[in-house]
Amino acid sequence: MKDKIKSIISQMTLEEKVSLCSGKDFWHLKGIERLGIPKIMVTDGPHGLRKQSGEADHLGLNQSVRATCFPTAATTASGWDRENLFDMGKAIGEECVQEQVSVVLGPGTNIKRSPLCGRNFEYFSEDPFLAGEMSAAWINGVQSQGIGTSLKHFAANNQEKARLVSNSVVDERALREIYLTAFEIAVKQAQPWTLMCSYNRINNVYSCENQWLLNDVLRGEWGFQGLVMTDWGAMNERTKALEAGLELEMPSSGGYNDKKIVEAVREGKMKEAVLDRAVTRILTVILKAQEVKKKNYDKDQHHNLAQKIGAESIVLLKNDGMLPLNKDVSYAVIGAFAEKPRYQGAGSSKINPHRVEGALEALRNMGIKCEYAQGYELCSDEIRQEIIDEATECAAKADGAVIFAGLPDSYESEGFDRSHLDMPKNHNALIEAVAKVNPNVTVVLQCGSPVLMPWKDDVKGIVLSYLGGEAAGSASAKVLTGEVNPSGRLAETFPMSLEDTPCYNNFAKEAKDVEYRESILVGYRYYDWADIPVLYPFGYGLSYTDFSYEGMQVEWDDDSGTGSVKVTVSNKGKRAGSEVVQLYIGKECSSVMRAPKELKGFQKVFLNPQETKTVKLMLDKRSFSYYDIEEHGWTIEDGNYQLYVAASSRDMRLKADLKVKGKVIMRSPEYKVTDVVKNGRFSCSREQFKMLFEGEFPITPQMDKISLNSTVQEVLEKEAGRKSFQEMVDRFNKKFDGEDDLNIMMRAMLKDMPLRGLAMFGEAAMGDIEKKIKDMN
Ligand code: BGC
Repeated sequence: MKDKIKSIISQMTLEEKVSLCSGKDFWHLKGIERLGIPKIMVTDGPHGLRKQSGEADHLGLNQSVRATCFPTAATTASGWDRENLFDMGKAIGEECVQEQVSVVLGPGTNIKRSPLCGRNFEYFSEDPFLAGEMSAAWINGVQSQGIGTSLKHFAANNQEKARLVSNSVVDERALREIYLTAFEIAVKQAQPWTLMCSYNRINNVYSCENQWLLNDVLRGEWGFQGLVMTDWGAMNERTKALEAGLELEMPSSGGYNDKKIVEAVREGKMKEAVLDRAVTRILTVILKAQEVKKKNYDKDQHHNLAQKIGAESIVLLKNDGMLPLNKDVSYAVIGAFAEKPRYQGAGSSKINPHRVEGALEALRNMGIKCEYAQGYELCSDEIRQEIIDEATECAAKADGAVIFAGLPDSYESEGFDRSHLDMPKNHNALIEAVAKVNPNVTVVLQCGSPVLMPWKDDVKGIVLSYLGGEAAGSASAKVLTGEVNPSGRLAETFPMSLEDTPCYNNFAKEAKDVEYRESILVGYRYYDWADIPVLYPFGYGLSYTDFSYEGMQVEWDDDSGTGSVKVTVSNKGKRAGSEVVQLYIGKECSSVMRAPKELKGFQKVFLNPQETKTVKLMLDKRSFSYYDIEEHGWTIEDGNYQLYVAASSRDMRLKADLKVKGKVIMRSPEYKVTDVVKNGRFSCSREQFKMLFEGEFPITPQMDKISLNSTVQEVLEKEAGRKSFQEMVDRFNKKFDGEDDLNIMMRAMLKDMPLRGLAMFGEAAMGDIEKKIKDMN
């Protein structure tokens, strides 16, 4: 292939080379007919295929072809099952083969820094090891079909608010240990064909023009072989990005940026070799994609797979003996979600499913005797007493009640963040009212991220189905009836309150700068470090059977930096089921700030009743390393480590101590709990946070003049700005004036959109926007 590409490049004009470096439209790369280079299609995922059938428009206002809607990443991560992720990726790859899509845009590998991020349903976990392992398995599955993936959004893109302009201010250690590690695992284990740069800046440098990130870390250290593309409309300075190793601008700037590259080469400001390098990487993907031959997939088989993965990812949070349901008694099935499930999130990942199964029908089909009551309206939060009364009447007559509740689309979406953790008041009121008339209540939650559960002690069962894909209904019915023994474990902490979250004071505020003051103390790392009680801990989940752990054996060789932990797990109950064996490692008395323990290994294991199996989890140098900012490298601190085999981050079953040879570090930890946790809340000052940085603190410099990066809000605050841009903004608002989730999302994004974004959405040519800016300044 190398020679073929060389020969093609030698026949290309400068303009042709440049033309390949941006999209033809929203979903295609350009081809060059005279050289036999085809245009290939890229399409959104990641929990299915969103291939638009009609004219391409960015956010799927045009319907997309039908595809299998698999459970979203928040759900699949709770399955802790690499094989399931591989199978799901493979199935999506097969759908790409049929639909002739060459690259599917996913997985979303960003860390859940706060439960408020509107897009958390599309991300895996608060833990980088788990997120990385899930991503790698999915990528390997898709790519096994000769279809590419796009690992996204690289990097430190952890909120939706102002996502096109925000500046993630993150210390080097947190970047490495938390925000980059998941990408690193995915790149090293799966070599995605492409990677998508995020919109935001990291420490003041746009991801897509970040030399350090793309050249030094991604390619230099991790050995990434593929091509890097922008998120849609993320391009800032084109030539800078090309130099930094960003090949493909998506969708395109209508020729504006292409011209800049041509000029830079012609004027000798950029070497043509830089362009050739980019074209080589783009052609490699195009030629690989050409090798795939169309073949149809079996949609029933994919539906069944979606159901299997959905069921095996459900987390049983509470069970005071009511579950599994009993076919000999009667139930009230309550809540509009029982008929019309919420099964996926809103935004660019929205799939047009083949069919959707509700739980009510599935429960009836499985022989559960039940009456239904709606309980609340789908499109409103209003408490309507008459519908609640209907539900309580229905519940009072039954032996038990199963309530389907959670978060509607309007609560969480790409494009904006949540501002609280509450469920709609009509859902909470319903649960409270039903629990008063029937002592046997189970709540099934359909939501993409953690919620508060003020009624937790009033119900007997809580089942978290997250967003379960098109077979969400039958998947939860299988768990409720016991046909599938629940084996999901939380991939994120459910906190007691929003104020308990470590970034409570520093998440998605009004300013562009987002200071990641909690540093490495994200998710359970923080709650354990500060000893904060939680609603449900990371790694937690119940089963209809019991597992026991015995015989932990640790092997470690300092010289080779390899080892393993072996443990014997037994199913002590009467039902078959799967356990997720988790390995955490900690180091008491460390010279650097550390979470008490971190996830370093896991394995899901299926056990028949009374069966015993030995599970082996591998150790390597990274299992014991932290990222040292003085060394700018991964370092093992010499000393004693604690290894825990656990059933959750707060349920340690076995412990072993291990002495590991490393470097003697003589420092004191950067933060002390007594300094940064006040009245149970994380509150670190900017001065304390600044100590984690070498050199200048990387916040957005003061800008007096309007630029392409000024936001619509900033511009409209000025009279001259209103004069120049109000009309364009009104046009945009009118274009997206619908009340469905996509339109709501677009309007939410507008205020914090940079002026260059208006060009991407087709409101004006970039050159015209630049001219208006010039006139204003
Ligand atoms: C999203 C990406 C998506 C792209 C194309 C962007 O707004 O952030 O995740 O792949 O649009 O739809």
